[in-house]
Amino acid sequence: MQYGYHIEATNSNTVISTLDNLRSLNMIICKTKSEVREALQVIRDNGERIGAVPTMGALHNGHLSLVEKVKSLGGHAVASIFVNPLQFGPHEDFSDYPRTLDSDLALLKAQGCDVVFTPAGREFVSADFSTKISVAGVGEGHCANSRPQFFDGVATIVTKLLNVFSPDFAVFGEKDYQQLMVITQLVRDLDLDIEIIGAPTVRESDGLAMSSRNEYLSPKERSQAAKLFETLNLVAEKIAQGRVAWADIQKWAIARLETAGFANVDYINYVDAMSLEPILSPDQPGRLLAAAWMGKTRLIDNIPIARRIS
Ligand code: PAJ
Repeated sequence: MQYGYHIEATNSNTVISTLDNLRSLNMIICKTKSEVREALQVIRDNGERIGAVPTMGALHNGHLSLVEKVKSLGGHAVASIFVNPLQFGPHEDFSDYPRTLDSDLALLKAQGCDVVFTPAGREFVSADFSTKISVAGVGEGHCANSRPQFFDGVATIVTKLLNVFSPDFAVFGEKDYQQLMVITQLVRDLDLDIEIIGAPTVRESDGLAMSSRNEYLSPKERSQAAKLFETLNLVAEKIAQGRVAWADIQKWAIARLETAGFANVDYINYVDAMSLEPILSPDQPGRLLAAAWMGKTRLIDNIPIARRIS
């Protein structure tokens, strides 16, 4: 069996028949579905667990924490790097999205990732691809209001990746909280026998959630961007104090973000942590979700709101 290429040239064109062979190859890089299926089958045949980490590349410590999570749970990690055209709208940043494959592969290897799937060309999403997976409920509102095609594109590609990998579990970041809920819902609805695990948001030292899109920010925008997380925390305090109505807190938060340099606030919503429906009772565990534009860059963030102990 031939693999597309390996990070170490000496490992190319090697037949993998045992797990020891697989381990000795360091990290296996697969460009086609059949290559990655074959590599993962070796792990499965040896009774070991597989944890999947789908990504769009331009990797940072947030992504790497997901690989670390897989390893900490005793799994072999399979990561994918694929800038998914299905989840970008016609005027969004698909062509500008950062593509840094060589450094991504080096980072994954250093993190102990076992297998990487880097589909190229039309082999993964064929020219006549026509299916759409659409998750109602948690897939509606919030980010879906300004990015109507986004969650269908995510749900469709993640379903394909999970079908190709057949992992025991898959790890997604809480940074994209609505996405995590959409994937949790689709796995449940479609009876996929895969555990979906959420991992905490990894942040820069000033609190800004790490994101591949942060590199679009100018130095001035970058310094202002941390106000998003800061504002979410202030909102959480106001909710905990319980003295001001949510609608007034929301107005205050939007004004604060605009004063801090955000051009536009898409939304800041206080919702039930599971259904993502508006929270009315302070006794439910909640989630604060926000999206706002810093210049031409759309940033999202969210934090948990603990159940009020009364
Ligand atoms: P991408 O933005 O590359 O993110 C890949 C994974 O990394 C997602 O699970 C995301 O939530 C997680 N992640 C990103 N930033 C993080 C941070 N600061 N801390 C912790 N985790 C973080 O999300 C996507 O790609 C795509 O929509 C994808 C699921 C791959 C489908 O195309």
